[in-house]
Amino acid sequence: MRKYIFENYEEMSRAATLVFAQQISKRPDTVLGLATGSTPLGLYNGLVSLFESGELDFSRVSSYNLDEYYPIPRADPQSYYHFMHTNLFNRINIKPENIHLPDGEAKDPIAACAEYEKALRAAGIDIQLLGVGDNGHIGFNEPDSELCLDTHKTSLTDSTINANSRFFASPDDVPKSALTMGMGSIMSAKSIVVLVSGARKTPVLRKMFSGKIDPMCPASLLQLHPDVLVLADKVAAQ
Ligand code: F6R
Repeated sequence: MRKYIFENYEEMSRAATLVFAQQISKRPDTVLGLATGSTPLGLYNGLVSLFESGELDFSRVSSYNLDEYYPIPRADPQSYYHFMHTNLFNRINIKPENIHLPDGEAKDPIAACAEYEKALRAAGIDIQLLGVGDNGHIGFNEPDSELCLDTHKTSLTDSTINANSRFFASPDDVPKSALTMGMGSIMSAKSIVVLVSGARKTPVLRKMFSGKIDPMCPASLLQLHPDVLVLADKVAAQ
């Protein structure tokens, strides 16, 4: 794992934008693995700016998102489908048929997860973007004594429900389940970029470089991957 520390969130986001822009320029049909949450917003704005200035073309890019609440209608402003379209997809020229997210409306979530896993493995993710939860989750792979390999339906922990309640009227409104890529789906990406920002993430960042694998901190498993780039701001790395 390579780690770079930046003065602040803006500089970290600029560096992340450069990494993704270089990847897409080098390989216009790149398969992206994408994340939601607050941390990637600076990166998404950076990519939109490069598209608007004509420096980046997404017409051959495809994407697979890490996760989605379940159940949730796509049109719900809290859905990750809505988040991704508002913050990125509607602002660039990615083709709608190249956009993939786990289906929060699926009647049969188990079958939907199996289908999603099959599709992302066949596509082969070139570069996977990750944020990390305060409790060390990646995607919605929550701390547990056993972690799932493939895309699956999972229950959210109280810690994640509380952390995500900032986007909802109250913690009671946060969906209690989600569909998420598994640890194996994430680790199947050729390269992984992890963005870590803010003081709340300091303990997780430390565990990510501890030299020990702990399923109670899923992000620590990233130490097993051969190509992980961690971009952190100074506050997180204190
Ligand atoms: C989002 C996701 C989550 C977030 C994590 C950090 O798709 O998979 O694992 O990356 O909860 O969220 P923020 O960036 O809001 O701190």
